[in-house]
Amino acid sequence: MDYKQLDKKYVWHPFTQMKDWIDDDIIAVDKGEGVWLYDTEGNRYIDAVGSLWVNVHGHANPELNDAIIEQLRKISHTTFLGLTHPLAVQLAEQLISMTHPNLKKVFYSDNGSTAMEIALKMAYQYWQQADGGKHKSRTKFITFSNAYHGDTIGSVSLGGIDLFHKIYKPLLFDCYNAPYPYPYRFDGDENACKEYCLNELRKILENYGDTIAAVVIEPEVQGASGMIMTPKGFMKELKHIVKQYGALLVVDEVATGFGRTGKMFASEIENIAPDIMSVAKSITGGYLPLSATLASDKVYEAFLGDYAQQKTFFHGHTYTANPLGCAVSLKNLELMRKNNILGNVAERAKQADCVLNEFKKLSHVGDIRQKGLMIGIELVKDKQTKKPYLWADRIGGKVVKEARNHEIIIRPLGNVIVLMPPLCISEQELERLLRGTYESIKKVTE
Ligand SMILES: Cc1ncc(COP(=O)(O)O)c(C=O)c1O
Repeated sequence: MDYKQLDKKYVWHPFTQMKDWIDDDIIAVDKGEGVWLYDTEGNRYIDAVGSLWVNVHGHANPELNDAIIEQLRKISHTTFLGLTHPLAVQLAEQLISMTHPNLKKVFYSDNGSTAMEIALKMAYQYWQQADGGKHKSRTKFITFSNAYHGDTIGSVSLGGIDLFHKIYKPLLFDCYNAPYPYPYRFDGDENACKEYCLNELRKILENYGDTIAAVVIEPEVQGASGMIMTPKGFMKELKHIVKQYGALLVVDEVATGFGRTGKMFASEIENIAPDIMSVAKSITGGYLPLSATLASDKVYEAFLGDYAQQKTFFHGHTYTANPLGCAVSLKNLELMRKNNILGNVAERAKQADCVLNEFKKLSHVGDIRQKGLMIGIELVKDKQTKKPYLWADRIGGKVVKEARNHEIIIRPLGNVIVLMPPLCISEQELERLLRGTYESIKKVTE
């Protein structure tokens, strides 16, 4: 069967211009093993997308597979509305023990967007109910330039990427927008960039503080905007300012969670105590859709009351806390400890850092950003002026196509080449990935 032709006939792909897709030579993935993807024609590629930033232990990991099979024999799904099950409870206990002591309760859902939708509804309802409803005016959110929190209407309202979000503006609720530090494109040094952004945030809080429900941020790294990374000390000062004005701090660790930045969670880097934290993606090692929104006792307790008071959090999904997802998530966490995944990320990050220095010599590599195994290489038309390539230049897309000749699958973010390989990647595999990426950038841009 010609799956590629059938795909073009029947399927509509996410974040894809289908007119191009139909003309393109597409890849149909047949199977995976470790960091490798194999297509239906027998070609293999290093999965540098990490199956959209989720893969931890590689594809077809026997232990993760067995965890799912074992659970399948028991039950594949039971509702979490009015029932519980042991795996969701064990996983909740582990998530709470792994994260900041401020976080005490786990609310499950099934993807990053819903985990963020829940975070914002929780934060909103918290202020409607806290202290006998004394702070009902706290209904607004502060978000950041270029933020990405998912594709549902609430999470899009929190977003700041015009390309993805602008068209929906009439459907969205308004947020206050603070600048996220982007030192490469700031007129001044890193510290000045940090201070400017914090000051702008402070100004919004000064003017509108008692209407702010929460400040919502991707801590340390904004992923979808092009792997933009905050200067040292930014998150710590931000937390301090948010606390000063009494708003909740919501951290979106959907992309950064579970080892990707080198710490288990990015909020650990500057020891941030969030009131609410969303996690998804790598929670199952990249196997099944599962996510969670963690809340502090302060938040949780505002939802407690007599039945008649109707303080309940009226939110839930059919597949909330799916047992197969919980089973593979527990095994994922066990393997992360057993195989010292954080140790591997540290070593591979050091290795990448060395090799990426070489990339800086390429005449169209403007900026290289790296935290753990989150890597963004920003290509520019003119290195001196930092002039970006035009959208129509499709420079990222060209590099991605070339990379296939080096057995590498990459997905760019505009002009930024993104490397997010499985966290278990070996020294040799990473060497190969970096070498192929270097050659691809060089060939396309020089
Ligand atoms: C920071 C962040 N938040 C939320 C999401 C949305 O997650 P999902 O695609 O699982 O809905 C993403 C996805 O890339 C993300 O990077």
